[in-house]
Amino acid sequence: MDRNLALEMVRVTERAAVACARWTGKGDKDAADQAAVDAMRRAFDGIGIAGEVVIGEGERDEAPMLYIGERVGRAAPGDPEVAIALDPLEGTNLCAFGKPGALAVIAIGNKGCLMNAPDSYMDKIAVGPAGKGCISLEKSPTENLKAVANAKGCQVEDLTVAILERPRHQAMIDEIRAAGAMVRLFSDGDVNFALATCKDDSGVDLFMSTGGAPEGVLAAVAMRCLGGDFQGRMAWRNDDEIERARDMGFSEADLTRIWSCEEIAAGDVLFCATGVTGGPMLPGVDFFGGGATSHSLVLRSRTGTIRRIETIHDFTRRPLE
Ligand code: FBP
Repeated sequence: MDRNLALEMVRVTERAAVACARWTGKGDKDAADQAAVDAMRRAFDGIGIAGEVVIGEGERDEAPMLYIGERVGRAAPGDPEVAIALDPLEGTNLCAFGKPGALAVIAIGNKGCLMNAPDSYMDKIAVGPAGKGCISLEKSPTENLKAVANAKGCQVEDLTVAILERPRHQAMIDEIRAAGAMVRLFSDGDVNFALATCKDDSGVDLFMSTGGAPEGVLAAVAMRCLGGDFQGRMAWRNDDEIERARDMGFSEADLTRIWSCEEIAAGDVLFCATGVTGGPMLPGVDFFGGGATSHSLVLRSRTGTIRRIETIHDFTRRPLE
């Protein structure tokens, strides 16, 4: 994977983030999402790749742009063939209601190296590098907490678990509280909180939730780059989703298996995210007269390099889309 691609990709997430950030707090999540999708789609046209979207805005019949299977990039002779997972606006409600944690996100792998997950749910667990190898979706939350506390040389009472605030998680929340750990509930945007387990000052040690499978693939790519651990298991909501998965190549065993982050995202991978509204990993887009400042995170699995990029966008030279 060409390392220069990482800097090309950050242009794509920046353009999506700046475009949808204009919709922050305006209460219109569809308009915010559309602004991000349009800007990201246009930005791809200038990039020297032959890309195929494997995680995108949905199936072809439900998403006019950035749908699963869509080809993006200039695709000139010699351009690399890559698989792309993307979410132009991860946390549409967060942006629409001006809450923290919305991101524009892209992950890239070599052709065939990213899990082709249908738009269903996934059971997910993530921990930072200190807990790598200790977590398992086969273990109970209490067992995972004890294993991570042991690896970190602390008490379960010292750990904080980030959990998507949904009624379906109540039993898990009750168990974690009973085990003595702290709980940090968040309303949306679980990619951010999976990554936060790898950031020392984030105040988050573990992430456990059932949420979007596409977001699970994006998080798995980032966790591979950051040296953390992640597991996912598809959590089907209905038979249609299972049928779609079979059509996409899932075997019977794949339907119920636990996937490691190395299986979800194999080989060399890249991850780019730009903050839309400020959150645990990144500040949001900040507008000023005639421009805006954005902050991005660029990660590579091969080197483990973590780049933070601050960009000043001058709308007098390149108008906002
Ligand atoms: P959107 O950006 O599509 O709105 O997704 C936000 C999100 O909070 C994800 O981070 C999470 O995985 C998923 O929604 C949870 O889904 P649900 O709202 O159905 O519980």
